[in-house]
Amino acid sequence: MNKVFVSLLLTLCLNGLAQAAGDAQAGQGKVAVCGACHGVDGNSPAPNFPKLAGQGERYLLKQLHDIKSGERQVVEMTGLLSNLSDQDMADIAAYFASQKMSVGAADPKLVERGEALFRGGKLEEGMPACTGCHSPNGAGIAAAGYPHLGGQHAQYVAKQLTDFREGNRTNDGDAMIMRSIAAKLSNKDIEAVSSYIQGLH
Ligand code: HEC
Ligand code: HEC
Repeated sequence: MNKVFVSLLLTLCLNGLAQAAGDAQAGQGKVAVCGACHGVDGNSPAPNFPKLAGQGERYLLKQLHDIKSGERQVVEMTGLLSNLSDQDMADIAAYFASQKMSVGAADPKLVERGEALFRGGKLEEGMPACTGCHSPNGAGIAAAGYPHLGGQHAQYVAKQLTDFREGNRTNDGDAMIMRSIAAKLSNKDIEAVSSYIQGLH
């Protein structure tokens, strides 16, 4: 290996490390502006603003990059991230990840249908269960960047599933995992599974 190649590799590794190392304590000092919508500790009081508390750090950081670049459009956050560095965003992600997501309640009338979809998918249509990636208790798989869902506001979850289905949210990667899953969900399915998720823990 020549020297240039070795130093290039080293730089890539160091960049990788620098990006991964978010400091939750530093992050706490950078989220004042976010609290108005997402809650000071990340448990947003409004059903259309997602809870960030307890969300996986890797997932949060990816969303921040996607929202900043416009790959995921969040009009309410226009301009809010433009002055944040990669380190700021890593610190913010670490801070919210270190908090605990509160849990809501599911509508008892929707639980049966919601649970069946979440745990069983729609095998006849080739749609996998949600549990495989978001885990049986809804905690997600933080290291893989699979988001925590349990306790999230039903209204926000329903909007995301609808946005994936209608092609209004397209940042789920080249494999289009969530777009192809949401394509199999009717409005009634989305209402039921979102309500179930709100009460899941
Ligand atoms: C004016 C309200 C508002 C403010 C202020 C705001 N956000 Fe948001 N944020 C939203 C909305 C609304 C969404 C979801 C949009 C949608 O439906 O897709 C969102 C989505 C997000 C998401 C994606 C969550 C997920 O589960 O995918 C992250 C991460 C996020 N915001 C972080 C932040 C951070 C960090 C700040 C402060 C720098 C901030 N937001 C400030 C309204 C706001
Ligand atoms: C094969 C893995 C996989 C399966 C199965 C899966 N998901 Fe996902 N889901 C993901 C990934 C990965 C993302 C994050 C995409 C991104 O990076 O923006 C995601 C994102 C989401 C989001 C957005 C979360 C947020 O905070 O904005 C919701 C809601 C969601 N999934 C619901 C479901 C439901 C409901 C099911 C079952 C019907 C399901 N998912 C099945 C992998 C999966």
